Amino acid sequence: MSTASSDAGNLSNLLHENRRFDPPAELAASANVKAEAYDEASADRDAFWAKAADRLTWAQKWDRVLDWDNAPFAKWFVGGRLNAAYNCVDRHVEAGNGERVAIDWVGEPVGDERTITYAQLKDEVSQAANALTALGVETGDRVAIYMPMIPEAIVTMLACARLGAPHTVVFGGFSAEALASRIEDCQAKVVVTADGGYRRGAASALKPAVDEAREIAARAGHEVAKVLVVRRTGQEVAWDGPETGGPDVWWHETVATASTDHTPEAFDAEHPLYVMYTSGTTGKPKGILHTTGGYLTQAAFTHWEVFDLKPETDVYWCTADIGWVTGHSYIVYGPLANGATQVLYEGTPDFPERGRWWQIIEEKKVTLFYTAPTAIRSFMKQGHDIPDQHDMSSLRILGSVGEPINPEAYVWYRHVIGGDRTPVVDTWWQTETGAMMISPLPGVTHGKPGSAMTALPGVGADVVDDEGHPVANGSGGYLVLTEPWPSMLRTIWGDDQRYVDTYWARFKDQGYYFAGDGAKKDEDGDLWVLGRVDDVMNVSGHRLSTTEIESALVSHPYVAEAAVVGATDEDTGQAVVAYVILREGAPENCEKELSDHVRKEIGPIAKPKRIMVVPELPKTRSGKIMRRLLRDLAEGRGVGDTTTLADSSIMELIAAGQAQATDD
Ligand code: WT7
Repeated sequence: MSTASSDAGNLSNLLHENRRFDPPAELAASANVKAEAYDEASADRDAFWAKAADRLTWAQKWDRVLDWDNAPFAKWFVGGRLNAAYNCVDRHVEAGNGERVAIDWVGEPVGDERTITYAQLKDEVSQAANALTALGVETGDRVAIYMPMIPEAIVTMLACARLGAPHTVVFGGFSAEALASRIEDCQAKVVVTADGGYRRGAASALKPAVDEAREIAARAGHEVAKVLVVRRTGQEVAWDGPETGGPDVWWHETVATASTDHTPEAFDAEHPLYVMYTSGTTGKPKGILHTTGGYLTQAAFTHWEVFDLKPETDVYWCTADIGWVTGHSYIVYGPLANGATQVLYEGTPDFPERGRWWQIIEEKKVTLFYTAPTAIRSFMKQGHDIPDQHDMSSLRILGSVGEPINPEAYVWYRHVIGGDRTPVVDTWWQTETGAMMISPLPGVTHGKPGSAMTALPGVGADVVDDEGHPVANGSGGYLVLTEPWPSMLRTIWGDDQRYVDTYWARFKDQGYYFAGDGAKKDEDGDLWVLGRVDDVMNVSGHRLSTTEIESALVSHPYVAEAAVVGATDEDTGQAVVAYVILREGAPENCEKELSDHVRKEIGPIAKPKRIMVVPELPKTRSGKIMRRLLRDLAEGRGVGDTTTLADSSIMELIAAGQAQATDD
């Protein structure tokens, strides 16, 4: 376990963390989910999830809760039929809640706002479904979505779900290359985008990246049939429309003019809902496949359970981007299936002023707030003066997701943002799990700063050693999931074998899913997630693969070889640090050019914070790069045990070079 050593320091801190926060009495008394749920679920897991599935509206009830006969390929709610968009929209209108606000959208430019009720959302989703059908989208076709945080992004996702056309949302911060590889991998027929979106006061273009991605895909033999474009910023865009035989069409000329009548068809519970690409240990992103019935069941249930959602009175806000799984499960599918009212914000946290988020919470009277530790840490640095200027007494529960939340950030969040009234729920899950797996229940579990506490009812999690045996309380090991769960990934798009090898091979004998994280059980048996143990890093809550960045670096003509590690970073959790060997003739001081190259190949989030030019890389006798040694060095721990290196003097050379670079 490579991170275990680097986390040794943190571990001893955690052992001394003994602050405890009880659930507020009122919340405990009226909580949606109470302590009995744990017993109920362990007595009969299938019955527990069947009851959760009953919260949805099914066109046809299932015959069997779980089919695990062909493990690790699961089928949940076998024989059931439903439409995800109907569940997120139409049924709320039919229940008489059409006038309830679904999306209270706040654009980045101050005053640019839109309120969308469930009835309006139903009309827009229907229009988009009709327009996509007219563009040739049929059930089963893939649609790529590359959009800013505007309501049309959600409308498009739901329109795809309504048609049974799996969507793949690509984060708007990814480059044309990254977009192209995802379009190609899932063979997307249509791309939905916008001219641009607002970031820090400026219109930031999206359409040019789609044009470029379309060309890259075409060169690889895949033609995108149509590109549907929302006019958001009004900026100039290159246009290749039907007049010129091209694929571009405007949203306002197609969707806005389409009929608001659309009858949703019910699909099999296992019909693909979406593919979300995430980084793994190899260079190629994995297309994580989620299906309909089980996914929607767990996304909706956990949102209701962990945020104790009262749809009539709560105002929920999740700050994630829809380009990540958090946006899928906890902006789109979970909250909307529950009929929640939510805030959706387009821009950056600190624009036009540093208190923008707190101002939105005050103005919209947000009650439930969900964000990431990296954001909390950056606000912590600004002090409490700015949040103190805002009345945030509406807040009743605060959530955290994406990376381990350090006890200091947890306590600051609870104290400064939550006024010491609000429980903090630290929710552990992954793109692959689709929904929350480990988290406190706000009306049941007492809070321990830094701990995600225990598996939610109906979820099996444990920490095991190398042989797959549970570790004792007070010890660390590998985090595993011991039972199948409704929102589990079904496979990796187009690669069943990679699915088996990546997640189910490590603890094959036990039949455990290996999450890739290291964790610890404390003396009470509560779980502390410590971070990745594989070659995956977590930068600002975003998962990046070391290999992917290495491939980007070696694709530059100056680079002969590269090794990338994630080094602990105060602001971003981990930072990308790259060690590169240059080719002969490469100019000196080309580090900036290399880091711009990574930005172009993958996107700004993958840009190395530091690039070190080195004469050699530490390798084992079999030629495997020892990233652990480089990580030790990048984190300032000096040269570790080099006995397994083919040439043990190399680390001394690299360390000397690094020391010199730091002195310069
Ligand atoms: C990885 C999954 C889940 C949506 C956002 C990230 C880390 C996530 C926590 C948490 C400690 C966490 C893990 C996990 N992670 N939540 N509460 N405490 N670590 O999704 O990109 O699929 O990344 O994020 O390392 O494996 P993702």
